[in-house]
Amino acid sequence: MLGIIGGSGLSELAGLENAEEKLLATRYGPPSSAVVSGRLHGRQVAFMARHGRPHSIPPHRINYRANLLALQRVGVREIVAVNAVGGITDACEPGVLCLPDQIIDYTWGRAHTFYDDNSDVAHIDFSRPYTQTLRRRLLLAAASAGVVLRDGGVYGATQGPRLETAAEIRRMQQDGCDIVGMTGMPEAALARELGLDYACLAVVANRAAGLTAETITQLAIEEVMYRCMGQVKTLIGACCKGDA
Ligand code: HPA
Repeated sequence: MLGIIGGSGLSELAGLENAEEKLLATRYGPPSSAVVSGRLHGRQVAFMARHGRPHSIPPHRINYRANLLALQRVGVREIVAVNAVGGITDACEPGVLCLPDQIIDYTWGRAHTFYDDNSDVAHIDFSRPYTQTLRRRLLLAAASAGVVLRDGGVYGATQGPRLETAAEIRRMQQDGCDIVGMTGMPEAALARELGLDYACLAVVANRAAGLTAETITQLAIEEVMYRCMGQVKTLIGACCKGDA
């Protein structure tokens, strides 16, 4: 089953038929929200609001492990994660949808692994952090639905909840980051540890810190995210249609 993790701007997936909510407990505690399952274009999907419903959990406090376990529990095997990001590369301007193919992790102090005690350890291969087959399906779905989706890019995951300094963004530019967001990690790595297919659908909400003269405001970010959600939903729908 396809799972969708909604980030800022996507707290609900409207249009699910026979929607059913399950509030699950996990050995890591409660997930951010109930899992809402239902049919979308004939295909069973499950949705989770990463920041809770209503949006209240900051990026460093999200229980990423519980969220992924809850989705896996209802039968999810592949995940499209929607993430708001800032654009670093010129091409990643506000309103662009991007399908990154790499990550650099700048987060710290988050519960970032399921191998967290001395009973067992596996060193997962993470050379290609996003699942290529799922990325390809999203690219095909975008093309069929007329949604412009930028193929590839490096997602720099920062700790938040504050935005970055201009110098931090300059450093990330030198590191090769194209986009910057606060929720891409450890989610992607935890999904790989569970053996789930995972792709990130990044929505560029603003130019990253220091790249324009303007102050970055929450309101401006929310406005762009609101404007882009139609395209995101069209793309998710097309991904389901392609598979139905
Ligand atoms: N930085 C980090 N996270 C973000 C940004 C940003 O500029 N915009 C939206 N999420």
